[in-house]
Amino acid sequence: MGNPTPYEAIGKERLNQLIDLFYSKVSKHPDLIEIFPEDLTETARKQKQFMTQYLGGPSLYTNEHGHPMLRARHIPFEITPKRSEAWLSCMMEAMDEIGLDGEIREFFYHRLVLTAQHMINSPDASG
Ligand code: HEM
Repeated sequence: MGNPTPYEAIGKERLNQLIDLFYSKVSKHPDLIEIFPEDLTETARKQKQFMTQYLGGPSLYTNEHGHPMLRARHIPFEITPKRSEAWLSCMMEAMDEIGLDGEIREFFYHRLVLTAQHMINSPDASG
C-alpha cells in the first residue's frame, strides 16, 4: 500500500467537475473561443481521459487514442503565449470554484503550467 496517486487524491468526481467547469470557461473566453469547437462535449470527454492518466490513474486516453503526443496534436491550432495564459487562467478559476486547494492543487497546477508552456507553437500577434 503506497501513497495515493494524485488521481486518487482528487477523485474521479472532482476531476470530472473540474474539467466540465474548465470548458464552460474556455467556451466564454475571448482569446480561446475562436480555436475551440462550438460543441465541447467530445473535447471534455477526451480531456477527462487524458487527465486521468496524467495524474496517475488508468490509461484511459492511450487505450482509446494511442500515445498522447500532446504537442503534435496541438500543432493545427495557433497556441500563442497569450492563449496559454488564458488556458491556465480558466483552469485556475475552475480550481478556485470547486475548492481544489493545498498541496494537490499546487502539484497539479504546476504541472499544467509546464505542459501549457510546452504547447506554445506561435508568437503573440504583434501590435
Ligand atoms: C485538445 C487548445 C493546453 C490537453 C485541444 C484542442 C484545442 C486545444 C483547440 C482541440 C479541441 C478539439 O478539437 O476537440 C489548447 C490551448 C492550450 C492547451 C490553447 C494552451 C496552452 C493543453 C494542456 C493540456 C491539453 C496544458 C494537458 C495538460 C489537450 C487534450 C486534447 C486537447 C488531451 C484532446 C486531444 C485529442 O483530440 O485527442 N487543445 N490546449 N491542452 N488538449 Fe489542449
